[in-house]
Amino acid sequence: MIAVDISARGRGIAKKLVHLTMRKMREMNAHECILETELSNVGAIGLYESVGFVRHKRLPRYYLNGSDAFRYKYVFTEASYIDELKVNEEIMLRKTMGMALENYTKQLELEQKAAEVVV
Ligand SMILES: CC(C)(COP(=O)(O)OP(=O)(O)OC[C@H]1O[C@@H](n2cnc3c(N)ncnc32)[C@H](O)[C@@H]1OP(=O)(O)O)[C@@H](O)C(=O)NCCC(=O)NCCS
Repeated sequence: MIAVDISARGRGIAKKLVHLTMRKMREMNAHECILETELSNVGAIGLYESVGFVRHKRLPRYYLNGSDAFRYKYVFTEASYIDELKVNEEIMLRKTMGMALENYTKQLELEQKAAEVVV
């Protein structure tokens, strides 16, 4: 099970963890990865679908509380490896762009303050 603290969600942490796990599994020559998640868990469903897991089947009353699960499957192929690389590149790019934007905003603020001092 993967879980991210509520205060840190929505920043790509879970996606990164899933990619690291999948990379390790690939290195260990895994053929496929199978997992289950509750039907109502929109976060987990969004996460697994965003990294390429495919819905395999619905499992009625899978959990002790009586709720159904979806079983998801990811097959390790050459094509999926290329997709993973692309996603990792995109995460890095977003991070770099975010940092660049942050630096640029700070620079603007500094210039604005300097201009105020001159006036
Ligand atoms: C599911 C969970 C691990 C996601 O963690 P996170 O760090 O917020 O997820 P990320 O920021 O890495 O998001 C990864 C993808 O999942 C999708 N996603 C995350 N939370 C979502 C939500 N509430 N609804 C829809 N999609 C969601 C994002 O859209 C993102 O896809 P994108 O990159 O294509 O936009 C987190 O919500 C959690 O800890 N939930 C409680 C524990 C749990 O249910 N774990 C799964 C058990 S199977």
